[in-house]
Formats: sequence, structure tokens, C-alpha cells
Amino acid sequence: AAPVITIDGPSGVGKGTIAQMLANHLGWHLLDSGALYRLTGLAARKGTVDFNDVQVLSEVARDLDVAFLPGDHNEPARVLLQGVDVTSEIRTEVCGADASLVAVVPEVRTALLQRQRDFCTQPGLIADGRDMGTVVFPDSVCKIYLTASAEERAQRRFKQLNGKGGDVKLSALLKDIEARDHRDMSRETAPLKPASDAAVIDTTGLDINSVFDVVLKLCKK
Ligand code: CDP
Repeated sequence: AAPVITIDGPSGVGKGTIAQMLANHLGWHLLDSGALYRLTGLAARKGTVDFNDVQVLSEVARDLDVAFLPGDHNEPARVLLQGVDVTSEIRTEVCGADASLVAVVPEVRTALLQRQRDFCTQPGLIADGRDMGTVVFPDSVCKIYLTASAEERAQRRFKQLNGKGGDVKLSALLKDIEARDHRDMSRETAPLKPASDAAVIDTTGLDINSVFDVVLKLCKK
């Protein structure tokens, strides 16, 4: 099997950026597992599925018609749902909140399990998510768990969204991050926590390049 490096952690900690940098650096594939939960939420909403209907939700997850197309230069991958480009749509706060709702459903998680493992091909995979090291790739060669205070994560997201012309309030982002943390950590199936063999990095006060340096050193061990 191809080697896997897992990068887990809470909302807004910079996992996505670090995972992308690492994938570029090593020339490995990238799995953005959060995108699969976001897509499941989006597909359910488009199909006006009742979010309490576990059976239908898990079918939506199982039958997701998605494609990840490599982005130009250093751009992130384009994401297609049923052939429609939803790259920006899945990044909205509404989609993130929907993702965390469908992610509490065990049947949805099971439906997405094999799909995630299928990303593991040569020369290797960087897997970004919440349960990459604990559930999806327990045998990965290197497990990283990134954390930062909720305030710092809200700040980072604030800069990211408003830098793109958005108009989101910091207080709303902090509330959303805290709600998401709570839901991710308290759910019964695959709750967010570091794997017992993960290296935990507190990124509060570190810029992205410093975090990348630490991660790279850990991966080379
Ligand atoms: O970083 P952010 O939380 O904004 O987004 P994400 O990584 O795309 O994840 C969106 C939501 O999907 C999270 O709040 C989690 O509830 C869920 N998720 C999960 O349960 N398991 C994963 N492996 C990845 C995401």
C-alpha cells in the first residue's frame, strides 16, 4: 500500500493549507475529506433531503457523483458535483455547518469510508480531516494533529473570508467555530481527538510557514 500522512484537527486550524503544501512538496496525492462531508450536505440540500432521514442521507453519501480536478499552478483542486463546479459553493459557512450536521450520522461516515481509502495510491497520500489518523488510515506512517485556540482560528477564517470580499462578522465566526468544535468532539462516531500516536502541534501564534517547517521535520523522522 502507498504511504499516508494524516493531518487532523478542528475547524479553521489551517489543515487544508498545510496538507496542500505538503502534497505539493512531496508530489503526493491529497484527500480533502471535509470536502466529501461538505458535498454530502450540499447534495442533500439540493435534493431537499430531510437531514433527519439517516437512510436517505447515507444513500446520498454513497452515491455522490464527484470529481476532483487538479487546480492550475498553486490553485486548490476544482470540485465537481454531478459535473457542476461547486468549488466555491462548498466553502461557504452554510455548507460547513451542513457538513458538520451530516458528519454526526454514523451511516454517512461508513458510506464515505471506502471512498476515502481509494485516494491512497502511489506515490503516497496526504489525508486532511478529523478522523484520518484515528479511523480512516490508522496505519499511516506519520500522524499530525494541529490545534489552535478558538479565537485564533476565528481570526484566521475572518481574514481568509473577508480577504476574498466576504462580509462576515468575527463574533459570528467564533460562535460557529465553537459550535462546530462541540459537535465534532462530542459525537459518538469518530469524535475529533488526536490519535494516540499523533504528534500534536499547537499552532497558536505560529504563521503558516513555521507550522509547515515543524510538520516537515516530523514527517522526515
Ligand atoms: O476546516 P473546516 O471545519 O472549516 O472544514 P472541513 O475540514 O471541510 O470540514 C467540514 C465538516 O466536516 C467538519 O465540521 C466536520 O464535522 C466534518 N468532517 C468530519 O467529520 N470528518 C472529516 N474527516 C472531515 C470533516
